Amino acid sequence: MVLNGKRILLIISGGIAAYKSLDLIRRLRERGAEVRPIMTKAAQEFITPLAVGALSSGHVYADLFSREDEQDVGHIRLARDCDLVLVAPATANLMAKIANGLADDLASTVLLATDRPVLLAPAMNPKMWAAAPTRRNVETLKGDGITLIGPMAGEMAESNEAGVGRMAEPLQIVDAVIGMLDDGAKPLKGRTAIVTSGPTHEPIDPVRYIANRSSGKQGHAIAAALARLGADVTLISGPVTIPDPAGVTTVHVERAEEMLEAVTRHLPADIAVMVAAVADWRVAASSGQKIKKQPGEAPAPLALTENPDILKTVGHHQKRPKLVVGFAAETENVEANGRAKLARKGADMIVANDVSPESGVMGGNRNRVKIISAEGIDEWPDLAKDDVAERLAALIAQRLD
Ligand code: C5P
Repeated sequence: MVLNGKRILLIISGGIAAYKSLDLIRRLRERGAEVRPIMTKAAQEFITPLAVGALSSGHVYADLFSREDEQDVGHIRLARDCDLVLVAPATANLMAKIANGLADDLASTVLLATDRPVLLAPAMNPKMWAAAPTRRNVETLKGDGITLIGPMAGEMAESNEAGVGRMAEPLQIVDAVIGMLDDGAKPLKGRTAIVTSGPTHEPIDPVRYIANRSSGKQGHAIAAALARLGADVTLISGPVTIPDPAGVTTVHVERAEEMLEAVTRHLPADIAVMVAAVADWRVAASSGQKIKKQPGEAPAPLALTENPDILKTVGHHQKRPKLVVGFAAETENVEANGRAKLARKGADMIVANDVSPESGVMGGNRNRVKIISAEGIDEWPDLAKDDVAERLAALIAQRLD
């Protein structure tokens, strides 16, 4: 059976769709899953713990301060002793709590404490789903690496209203669970990857530095996409203002030399994707003290020296990863420059993008890339950086196969 041995922690929150969760428990168990249920207080107004317990054939957890339950498994173990946390139905209220890190009952505490993948099946009135706070919470939850199935369009159970808000059907939810737990959908399982992202800051003195406009959005998205395909990902990030991606180990560095050190320390790896906009030069002798301006005197010239080339070092390393991917900011002769770069850097693939000010790529959310490899050049359409990441991760998995 497809879910044999898989342990699902099912959180049922308080909505009329809770009646469908009873069928959901049966469907999951039919496929071999073990289901451990948690009910919120409101859920117990819609269906009884007795029914949930009978169908799941086990204890129903409901109280954060239950002395018996805490001695038996405890909320932290509940949060970790499973392969997936499924919330069905997920009410607007519970989603708001998760998005904001509230932990004021057993369900929300477990959701904050878990390090397992989380799948939400939202169910609510269409107006609540469309409301601005819910829209914001959904974006936050997705950004935190949480997966959503539904809600679907259709008639609402409690009123004559129709719209988007119905909980997905139990079998759709089961399919989503299988998709998330199926190792076949994780072609990079067992692989390790190093990704660099963001700019570097090269100090001039303790308060000034040389930098560039890289936001880290593309590199971070690639790290997250590789992790979603099952890779064990270390992200080496320069100074950025975006959050660390979910499911990835992030190492923060400032300077190119620190980035190189962090990258080589994490070798060997199967995959290296060097996305960072590493500063080409650093100040030859950065000052230990703030450089003072001298009235009437011209500023001292800044002597620069070349930074190490991290991609080139990795591409020629004795522990060279099986697949080395570089980026190239090109505006002309993309194919010829890309091919030359492949050879010079020892890379298997170069992702060339246009970073001219008109393109809006630097700091923006979209990217238009060309993939250059020994096989030739492949032009991708204008895509969101997340979609470029998704496609690149899939291509990497295919190449490694
Ligand atoms: O040589 P160029 O800067 O065009 O090469 C870009 C590619 O090389 C990117 O993948 C970038 O991350 C990497 N690079 C690097 N270290 C440098 C300069 C660039 O890893 N010092």
